[in-house]
Amino acid sequence: KMIYYVTPTYPRPEQMPELTRLAHTLMHVPRIHWIVADDQPHCSDTVLKLLRRSGLPFTFISSPKPFVYRGTNFPRGVANRRAALSWLRENVQEGILYFGDDDNTVDLQLFDEIRNTKKVSMFPVGLIGDYGVSTPIVKDGKVVAFFDSWSGSRTFPVDMAGFAINIEYMKPSASMPYIAGHEEDRFLVSLGLKLDEIEPLAANCSKVLVWHTKTAKYKKPSLKIDLHSLCLDYYNGLI
Ligand code: UGA
Ligand code: MN
Repeated sequence: KMIYYVTPTYPRPEQMPELTRLAHTLMHVPRIHWIVADDQPHCSDTVLKLLRRSGLPFTFISSPKPFVYRGTNFPRGVANRRAALSWLRENVQEGILYFGDDDNTVDLQLFDEIRNTKKVSMFPVGLIGDYGVSTPIVKDGKVVAFFDSWSGSRTFPVDMAGFAINIEYMKPSASMPYIAGHEEDRFLVSLGLKLDEIEPLAANCSKVLVWHTKTAKYKKPSLKIDLHSLCLDYYNGLI
């Protein structure tokens, strides 16, 4: 089965290093299609060059967030993932869908495991919240509860990178809301998912194979340097 790896992205100084690292991971994975959805009204030329150089099959979508969601504490990556979902609906009948942000770190073993997802599989994500990990709790091979530092009255308190879906199982009604903190849960609920349908991976959720890494924000130098005069090809978000 093909894996469709859905990555929201947006221009900023850390964008190219994040995507370079992620591309170099995905280049080791067979049968993968990278859907990169750009949070701006056009597709970044720099990102396009990287996608071409990677040699990976890819789809690059322009998917700017609606203007009202600019500012602070807005839901991140939702317009991007919605655009990817509608592209999948129109173009793909089978395969595995995985939401992997541009700043996550993924162990190659995760790809082998999610490829066999029947409906929805779940697994731990490292470096999440106060507890340092967000994971389903598994008893006798079944998911019975969740361990996450913020339950937020969610049915499925999991991170975006903590589950994979078989596209054949995805309903046309599958949707992701613009509600910060509830994107994952509402999406899984919209699939009509039941607790006993969840397939635990990563040795019954005892191994961390993906991390919610966060790169420190680059601080622009206060000194005014004219980067244009250096004729750098890579300006994306730096100036
Ligand atoms: C956490 C979760 O890991 C995200 O999957 C979830 O969407 C987000 O919270 C949320 O609930 O809003 P976090 O690390 O806090 O993510 O957020 P970012 O990594 O900054 O953003 C998530 C994704 O959206 C990234 O792939 C990022 O490139 C993208 N993004 C972020 C945009 O496309 N536009 C933005 O303005 C900001
Ligand atoms: Mn992140």
